[in-house]
Amino acid sequence: MTEKDFLPNPYQNFPNKGKVSWKAPSNIALVKYWGKRPVQIPANPSISFTLDTCATTTSVSFEKKNESDGFSFDLLFEGRPKEDFKPKISTFFERIEAYLPFLKDYHFKIETSNSFPHSSGIASSASGMAALSLCLMDIERQLSPQMEDSYFTNKTSFLARLGSGSACRSIKGSLVEWGKHQHIPDSSDLYGIEYPFEVEKVFQTYHDTILLVHKGKKEVSSTVGHQLMHGHPYAESRFLQAGQNLDHLKPILASGDLEGFIKLVESEALTLHAMMMSSMPYFMLMKPDTLEIINKIWAYRQETKVPVCFTLDAGANVHMLYPDSAKDHALQFVQDELTAHCENGQYINDQVGKGAIKIND
Ligand code: PMV
Repeated sequence: MTEKDFLPNPYQNFPNKGKVSWKAPSNIALVKYWGKRPVQIPANPSISFTLDTCATTTSVSFEKKNESDGFSFDLLFEGRPKEDFKPKISTFFERIEAYLPFLKDYHFKIETSNSFPHSSGIASSASGMAALSLCLMDIERQLSPQMEDSYFTNKTSFLARLGSGSACRSIKGSLVEWGKHQHIPDSSDLYGIEYPFEVEKVFQTYHDTILLVHKGKKEVSSTVGHQLMHGHPYAESRFLQAGQNLDHLKPILASGDLEGFIKLVESEALTLHAMMMSSMPYFMLMKPDTLEIINKIWAYRQETKVPVCFTLDAGANVHMLYPDSAKDHALQFVQDELTAHCENGQYINDQVGKGAIKIND
């Protein structure tokens, strides 16, 4: 599919008003996306576990307005007006208007809330943009009732990508791939797809305990980080490596090879941060407690053979990944050794989820 396929045919219906609600999860990448071209085209393919507990719920009420000269919307975050989110939504609307030409015909009331604690350092842009895109596509489906499910899913992911790259992996579960890859059929730079190959059941119930090391705002945003991959001395080999890691992951996921999984996932996390540390200007998002946790995970795994491992996103928090069979040991380990390294002792127990769901009011 190309961008043009997402331009709609003339709408058949124009309801006067209505309301739609969706809950979309966050995701954690196993092979990381880092580096992009305009507009939100990834420099390399990536794959993520869709999460379950960390999610955004968004409702969009819409009502026909008389003039269609501009966007008109109110935004409420956790029940309160949130003016500082509005510019991001306006930019998003401008970017997607060609694909959703009804946007100027309605006044929208967008009400959104997160399941995870406010300012936990967890990126809400993935789940937030996914939930909003789902609501907007649900409205488009009311205007074009013949819409096929596959078109709905692909276009939702396409729109979410235009809001925040990795958001395109937050529509479906349980493993989503994004980015053109020569060995992955139907893979696309424009939207995420459900991973099309065999996945052993151990990976379908995997856990992710998110250790909240640093809850403040990041010193360097992902947007800036992606830009710093332009002219980066290791960029080309990194992009190549990400593609190869997706190839290597295929037999690992199919056979349930935990040892291979751990090596690949930890190497990806450290490579992502190595790219940050070798950018110009260079920067570092890990904190001393990030390293303490990583070292403790390594020591614990070596001593006990419990297959816990870590990954990182663009921040200081550590995602500790483990199979369901290791759950009791892993949670005891978190209590005994890791909470001391978390801000206010906070962490979130999450697991692989099945994707976004529609909420019926
Ligand atoms: O979607 P963005 O622009 O916030 O970038 C996300 C980048 C990483 O979280 C570091 C990696 C990924 O693939 O999710």
